[in-house]
Amino acid sequence: MLNKIKEHLLLVEKFEANSIEQVEKFRIDYLGKKGILNDFFTAFKEVSNAEKKNFGQAVNELKNKAQEKVSNLKDVLENTRDTKATGLDLTMNAESMRLGSRHPLSIVKNEIVEIFARLGFTISEGPEIEDDWHNFSALNLPEEHPARDMQDTFFIQTNPDVLLRTHTSSVQVRFMENNPAPIRTLSPGRVFRNEAISARAHCIFHQIEGLYIDEHVSFADLKQTLLHFAQEFFGKETEIRLRPSYFPFTEPSAEVDISCNICKSKGCNICKYTGWVEILGCGMVDPNVLDNCGIDSKKYSGFAFGMGIERITMLKYQVKDLRLFFENDIRFLEQFTNA
Ligand code: DAH
Repeated sequence: MLNKIKEHLLLVEKFEANSIEQVEKFRIDYLGKKGILNDFFTAFKEVSNAEKKNFGQAVNELKNKAQEKVSNLKDVLENTRDTKATGLDLTMNAESMRLGSRHPLSIVKNEIVEIFARLGFTISEGPEIEDDWHNFSALNLPEEHPARDMQDTFFIQTNPDVLLRTHTSSVQVRFMENNPAPIRTLSPGRVFRNEAISARAHCIFHQIEGLYIDEHVSFADLKQTLLHFAQEFFGKETEIRLRPSYFPFTEPSAEVDISCNICKSKGCNICKYTGWVEILGCGMVDPNVLDNCGIDSKKYSGFAFGMGIERITMLKYQVKDLRLFFENDIRFLEQFTNA
């Protein structure tokens, strides 16, 4: 009799089911009123006293195993059915998240900032909504000055003193007003001009302004600093060329070209077959500007420069249309990595 029970124990252990119906049949076979266990319990009465203990234990074990099996199989099968109903599988791997990438304008801005930081330049920022003084007048551009037309400005109708800054040169004014010389600062930021949007112009773009004020600063310092920047950013073989120019806030003023890094100065459509591309405007800060900002122009001199980040980025990555920077199409943005 004990052997029979052991056989059933094995059968119970091995039993598997694909449906609740099979489990139910198993339950009735073993645990039902006319089931196998009931037969064993009936037989128990006829077992000799000496065997009763072993027999009783074995039958109880079989009963527990059968009950356990029924409840385990029911659990599994019912959960599977739930999964099918809700489409939920808690064991499935999560969908991988798409990582963003840094915007090419930020990559280039950071790179420029790092190059000048190594020369001791700090970062300064100013408001995008400016007043006339900081954007124009303090920079030697009094009212009615014709050079104001160089930058088509967004004004606010109700208050002509409030405008969207047209360049980051406004930040050099604010910095000089609030900090004593010597000064070495770099001001990156967004600027605004009322320009028709095209592949080469936008009404919003980004500039970086540089300002260096100390005793005995000369044009040679300016030239060397810009050569250093150009070679760090565009490569050691890069040359620079300064062309005389005009800005109201600098005297003398210059525009700076770099040797075309795309065709290696052989001539291409980026450099318009000249071998040179313009990257920035610069000059020695006009003494009037120093005085306007509370810096003694008899004691101090300095240089300033301003460059468009879009322009530099287009040159570096050979991007042909400036509008791409503002569309934020992931397929465009993810091509740039912060190497
Ligand atoms: N503010 C000028 C512009 O937006 C760029 C510039 C030129 C800035 C000469 C300077 C500078 O600081 O010295 O066109």
